[in-house]
Amino acid sequence: MKHTDISKLFQNSEDYLDREVTVCGWVRTSAEVKPMTFIQINDGTTSTKNLQLTIHQERISDEEYKSNIKPLLSLGVSLKATGILIASERNGVELEVETIEMLGDCPSTYPLQKKKTSVEFLRTIPHLRTRTNLMKTAMMIRSRLAYAVHSYFTQNGYIYLHTPIITDSDCEGAGEMFRVTTQPWNASYNTEEEYFENDYFGQKAGLSVSCQLEGEMAAVGGLGRIYTFGPTFRAEKSDTPKHVAEFWHVEPEVCFADINEIIEIGEDFIKYIIRDVMENCSEQLSFCDKFLEKGLLDKLNHVVNSEFARVDYTDAIEILQNSGRKFEYPVFWGCDLQTEHEKYLTDEHFKRPLFVVNYPKDLKSFYMKQNDDGKTVAATDLLVPGIGEIIGCSERETDYDKLVNAMTARNMPLENYQKYLDTRKYGSVQHSGFGLGFDRLVMYVTGINNIRDVLQFPRTYQHIY
Ligand code: 4AD
Ligand code: MG
Repeated sequence: MKHTDISKLFQNSEDYLDREVTVCGWVRTSAEVKPMTFIQINDGTTSTKNLQLTIHQERISDEEYKSNIKPLLSLGVSLKATGILIASERNGVELEVETIEMLGDCPSTYPLQKKKTSVEFLRTIPHLRTRTNLMKTAMMIRSRLAYAVHSYFTQNGYIYLHTPIITDSDCEGAGEMFRVTTQPWNASYNTEEEYFENDYFGQKAGLSVSCQLEGEMAAVGGLGRIYTFGPTFRAEKSDTPKHVAEFWHVEPEVCFADINEIIEIGEDFIKYIIRDVMENCSEQLSFCDKFLEKGLLDKLNHVVNSEFARVDYTDAIEILQNSGRKFEYPVFWGCDLQTEHEKYLTDEHFKRPLFVVNYPKDLKSFYMKQNDDGKTVAATDLLVPGIGEIIGCSERETDYDKLVNAMTARNMPLENYQKYLDTRKYGSVQHSGFGLGFDRLVMYVTGINNIRDVLQFPRTYQHIY
């Protein structure tokens, strides 16, 4: 259908003023103020700005008005209109309608009526909530952030790698993988092995929790510097505002880089994509600043213009112990940092993004480089105020024997990791990487405080929206 995007009418209005244009969209509001009728429409090319269609009632017969215009005044109707674009003090531009027709009717059962709706209610209509200002804004910022992720890595010479989603190894060694199977349980199988032998792949398979191991194999395998960006899956039963079972994961892997270099890359990367979205989604971010998180723009400005903080895990424990705070979970060297601890560190103590470095090795995964102290690993989490961890990062253990020992200590089946171990056998090199939870980044940038509202169709524990 030949028509012009509403965004173009606002952005390049001088090209269209006093000319005839055709637009399409969904009705957001309408009003009859004799002798005029106003209909505001949105076509998805702008987030919150709607185009006003102006109809002069006296130019149409009563009968025609009743049969052709009246039905267009309901919320959610889709329509097509042609007319002259004119300047408007209030709206910038508006369309003086010459002809108008309905594309799709929308009965009064339409769940998005004018009254204010809660985010909880909107989650029950994921297929329609993309018509709200909130979701349109979230989806536009999300889309631009994804574009910025690709442009950052492309500009810096990374290869965009496609890794399998179906896998036979649980990357984190934490046993929280969804299983992939085509066969129902059958009581005649005596053992698990027997059962899996008859399954589609002839062995146990699941959905990948992280592309890291494949990423490492590609980078050390000769590609040098790669990144992956796609969905990964976690079967942990965490019903919180920041966990989904299917999340989008950005994972670079960089050869010849130690922990400090990968931290610098992580900081540079986050600043780059936030700067990009500030330049290209200013209208959407202003909306977020006004309605979702007061001071959001100042926060983002501060993030791109100041250095992220860094603290050793051991020092972070000391800060928490000396805080005078009573925490629900006890703080001691070796404890996992809980949300309340992370919150104190980022929101109250450091007040900016914070890399916590050198965690106790028992808290972290097998593949992390073991430090000389014998107690810690060269790993860091990037914590941000309001959310907590958005990046998990480490230098990787490159010593074959140390790696095997770490795997054995965790009872991992070495036979499943032979290819991975080979990378430490044939030309092993220092390398580091990280995983960014993309959905959490969208939360941070928009001020949306529940991960269910930065994905159109979130999947969470006990729920497929
Ligand atoms: O810290 P994680 O588990 O690290 C890894 O998976 C590494 N293999 C990454 C790597 O080094 N290549 O996950 C990385 C990030 C977390 O910091 C978090 O932001 C996000 O992924 N994340 C989740 N986001 C939403 N829902 C969940 N259930 C998430 N689990 C992890
Ligand atoms: Mg982590």
